[in-house]
Amino acid sequence: MQAARWIEAAEFQGLLLREGLIDQVAHGRRLRQINTELAATGRYEHTASELEQAGRIGWRATPRCIGRLPWQTLQVLDRRHLQTPEEVFQACVEHLRWATNGGRIRPVMTVFAAAETGRAARIWNPQLIRYAGWRRPDGTVLGDPAQLELTDRLHELGWRPAQRTAFTVLPVVIQVGHHRSQLFELPADAVLEVPITHPEFSWFAELGLRWHALPMVCNLGLRAGGLFYPAAPFNGWYMSTEIAARNLADVDRYDQLPAIARRMGLNTRSSISLWRDRALVELNVAVLHSFKAAGVRMVDHHSASAQFMTHLDRERDQGRSTPGDWSWLVPPVSGSTSPVFHRYYAADADPGTPRFQAQPEAWRAVAAGPHPATPGCPVHRVA
Ligand code: ARG
Repeated sequence: MQAARWIEAAEFQGLLLREGLIDQVAHGRRLRQINTELAATGRYEHTASELEQAGRIGWRATPRCIGRLPWQTLQVLDRRHLQTPEEVFQACVEHLRWATNGGRIRPVMTVFAAAETGRAARIWNPQLIRYAGWRRPDGTVLGDPAQLELTDRLHELGWRPAQRTAFTVLPVVIQVGHHRSQLFELPADAVLEVPITHPEFSWFAELGLRWHALPMVCNLGLRAGGLFYPAAPFNGWYMSTEIAARNLADVDRYDQLPAIARRMGLNTRSSISLWRDRALVELNVAVLHSFKAAGVRMVDHHSASAQFMTHLDRERDQGRSTPGDWSWLVPPVSGSTSPVFHRYYAADADPGTPRFQAQPEAWRAVAAGPHPATPGCPVHRVA
């Protein structure tokens, strides 16, 4: 464990040196310092600037992300000193407000204490803003089916929402160290949402669809330099298809295509009418239109694809290969119209660090004892 930590720490310092972020002298000095600290205590702490580089390089190394071009602009907020669930929650709300920025979204990451400190936080929610899901007696779901299980857990923890709607924002559960998990409601004015309308179909608004402006992922841990940060929530801005081709369209999510197709007057009994495809395009048009009208930053899949091509070129010019997962990178609509579709990507067989890492769902981890989320924990697939 100790040796593995030293190896990863030295690798990280070597990376910073190779990328010109530190010079030879600083590199040598820092290695000696880390070595001494590890020998004495078994752990060490990143400097604020190491943490910032870890976040940025971790983003750059994420094989599933098409939006990596601006990786160097990520702002990293160092909140490792916070001790209580209340403080962690307040920092998350601050992150939310700062990153949302009235719609002019900025990429931000907040880092809480490392697992190695024994007082690390875990945020149960997969994202800070998510909509609840409840199964109705007839088997259908009100809200987001992807959140059925978390919604159940929240009820067990005592959550009693004022009302149940298709878009009820879930409270946030935070656990610190060995202490009990605590539940927090997000202040309504910190959660920017966009009602979905269509530029030509006036009936579209009647579907009552909406989505939140900020995708803020909080269940991936950041692994860097031999340390693991189980709570390191981060956000970018949305690519339209994430909402319009997946969240609102997938059959096991909001499943809106049949309703849209019917309103469009398409024949939903014949697959060759391509009613799904036509409804899907209009839903994408609607989401892009609505975010623009609301002044909320969003990228369409064509622009995102072009930006990703620029990213690949820039990385190649720097002598780096870009790990990529084709099945995640290719946009879920009109794949072949995107240059991302027409090539292969370096497999991420031996992903180095820094990188983001999936963790077991927090409520399962809790049952297994506090903080099993140390390096080497099993990787579960997350959406
Ligand atoms: N796909 C996720 C969602 O629909 C968000 C993942 C992160 N996306 C991003 N653009 N940074 O909520």
